[in-house]
Amino acid sequence: MDERERDPRPIGIFDSGVGGLTVLAELARRFPGESFIYLGDTARVPYGAKSARTVERYTLQAASFLLNKGVKAMVAACNTASALGLAALRAAEPHLPVLGVIQPGCRAAVATTRSHRVGVIGTRSTVASGAYPDALALLEPRIRAVALACPLFVPLAEEGWLDHPATRLIVAESLAPLRHEGVDALILGCTHYPLLAPIIAEVMGEGVALVDSASAVADELEQRFIDVILPAPEGRPQRMDYLVTDIPDRFVEMARRILPGLPVHGVEMVDL
Ligand code: DGL
Repeated sequence: MDERERDPRPIGIFDSGVGGLTVLAELARRFPGESFIYLGDTARVPYGAKSARTVERYTLQAASFLLNKGVKAMVAACNTASALGLAALRAAEPHLPVLGVIQPGCRAAVATTRSHRVGVIGTRSTVASGAYPDALALLEPRIRAVALACPLFVPLAEEGWLDHPATRLIVAESLAPLRHEGVDALILGCTHYPLLAPIIAEVMGEGVALVDSASAVADELEQRFIDVILPAPEGRPQRMDYLVTDIPDRFVEMARRILPGLPVHGVEMVDL
């Protein structure tokens, strides 16, 4: 490829906090030649219980901050921001390639389900937005989506209670309304839920495939590299920058717990 067809700028990825690192890890693994700037809005997390208007404002602020850092594309790793803020972001930045997690997750679910009954779990705000059922219906009108808010999963994941008896109990109680809905695919519609995937899988049983949007987002990003985003010049080492809006120490501690394989150094605190 001609060097003029390459773009050394990083890809921006933002989330309400640390959860989006589950998406970053997958993107960093799939695109080892690309550099990333991760922005976690740790001062204002959680987004999952906030109003549409507030989440939209936060999303626009995070995006404009990353744009000023010179990113060539942006990924909203946060499901709540993807559900409530992405339309405004795309309207504000029509020329910037912007990926959310909802479309890719829905595409993966449509490819997975045989019964056309798909479960979706997410934060209260994501579920209230109806974004997942709407996107599923557009992709495949035969799909019947059942969405359920699981607000207790985020704090459990953040405390590192990934294999705790209390977590098992709370996951079982929370998912009980879904267990008799006949779903054969369950979208993990929140950044933190993949961390609880083993317990969620156990509770839902063998006939239910879990759909984690991280790898679906990576597939979509790959497609965008073919269509609209220029890849980084060859032979450059991958660079990771981490920005947070509060308490970098806690961020590093949680990031290491969440992603033992990902080096997290030089976390910088910023104001949006
Ligand atoms: N990142 C959020 C999401 O994926 C979960 C945490 C929050 O509520 O901010 O919806």
